[in-house]
Amino acid sequence: MSTLRTEVGIVGAGPAGLVLSHLLYLEGIDSAVLENRSRQYCEERIRAGVLESGTVDLLVQMGVGERMKREGLIHYGIELRFGGQGHRIDFKDLTGRAITVYGQHEVIKDLIQARLATGGRILFEVEDVRIDGFESAHPKIHYTHAGQPGEIHCDFIAGCDGSHGVCRPSVPPGALTVYDRQYPFGWLGILAEAPPASEELIYAHHDRGFALHSMRSPQITRLYLQCAPDENLDQWPDDRIWEELQTRLSGGNDWRLHEGRILQKGVTGMRSYVVEPMQHGRLFLAGDAAHIVPPTGAKGLNLAVADVRVLARALNAFYSTGSTTELDRYSKACLRRVWRVQRFSWWMTSMLHKHEGNPFDERRQLAELDYVTSSRAASQSLAENYVGLPMDDTLLR
Ligand code: APR
Ligand code: PHB
Repeated sequence: MSTLRTEVGIVGAGPAGLVLSHLLYLEGIDSAVLENRSRQYCEERIRAGVLESGTVDLLVQMGVGERMKREGLIHYGIELRFGGQGHRIDFKDLTGRAITVYGQHEVIKDLIQARLATGGRILFEVEDVRIDGFESAHPKIHYTHAGQPGEIHCDFIAGCDGSHGVCRPSVPPGALTVYDRQYPFGWLGILAEAPPASEELIYAHHDRGFALHSMRSPQITRLYLQCAPDENLDQWPDDRIWEELQTRLSGGNDWRLHEGRILQKGVTGMRSYVVEPMQHGRLFLAGDAAHIVPPTGAKGLNLAVADVRVLARALNAFYSTGSTTELDRYSKACLRRVWRVQRFSWWMTSMLHKHEGNPFDERRQLAELDYVTSSRAASQSLAENYVGLPMDDTLLR
């Protein structure tokens, strides 16, 4: 059996685990990351793609932003489309800031490379991860790697293992409160070999349901359609997908999406989920392990990064002064942002998706879209949330 000693044991090599590990390294704190998937899987898994300006700034400060700066697409606005008409929300004018479109898997590649180049320990393809001892000062992580059992002895465990991980379910029953909301729809997403038909993202409200036009590069489009949460992909041959996208995203005149080979297809459910608190003893939950947002606000990755920024600071305060004050405040500091982002993601979702049922709600939605796109105050509220609430210390108080 191999036994490894480190300061912070991190479960999960997603954005939360990798950003945390690198931030700790920059502060001189040792960590080890355990990941149950292969490196290739983590680097190729298609996920979100919108980075808030604060996330971009942090990645640059950490020294992992070089390729993102070169290849990321800077967007100064988004379009809301309804009634067949486009309405631009101008982030630059409303907030002075922008977002960057750069795939989560590209961020992951950059982080893994930076971690390995600086001697970081990431163990991929581990199995049977279990954690214990986090109610004492000697937490342990047990795992199997290449058929051999192993243990990590650490001062703290960071549960960065996403929504289906093992860390959150290891907390004793009753210690966490769960807030959960499921939506009666999902997203059918495709990645297509076709140039984006618009320079910016288009969020479309349509009688047939929501659709989103996004992108990954000047050659690759990312598109989504509102569908049933358990939609059967067999019912969606490529031609049907394109036809439905063209209908829902139509914008008057002769604007059309560019069609191309579909490289990837998938269905994702939509959920709002939070556990409180985000800490139990010496176990700290971060990112999707603690909360899930529906993707309409493009916030999942950004929220994961915001959590670990707070956690890295608190751990740094502990290792430099011995004080646990900031660690004790971790959950409260994160949850304030988490709930604001939950509110925004829920609001974007309910404004843009088709809800079966009361025609009153449909009219109300159109009034909401009309208001958001015609009042400067309302557009500014959307814009400041979309580009990202400040990652500054006001949220830590
Ligand atoms: N043992 C080890 N690793 C695990 C385990 C386990 N038992 N369970 C899950 N993992 C790994 C997953 O394979 C994944 O690589 O933990 C990682 C969690 O990463 P994410 O799911 O990306 O979560 P997080 O880092 O919090 O980032 C949140 O990711 O899914 C998107 O939309 C989400 O953008 C958001 C972001
Ligand atoms: C994406 O590009 O994958 C994307 C963009 C915006 C969203 C969600 C996903 O709100």
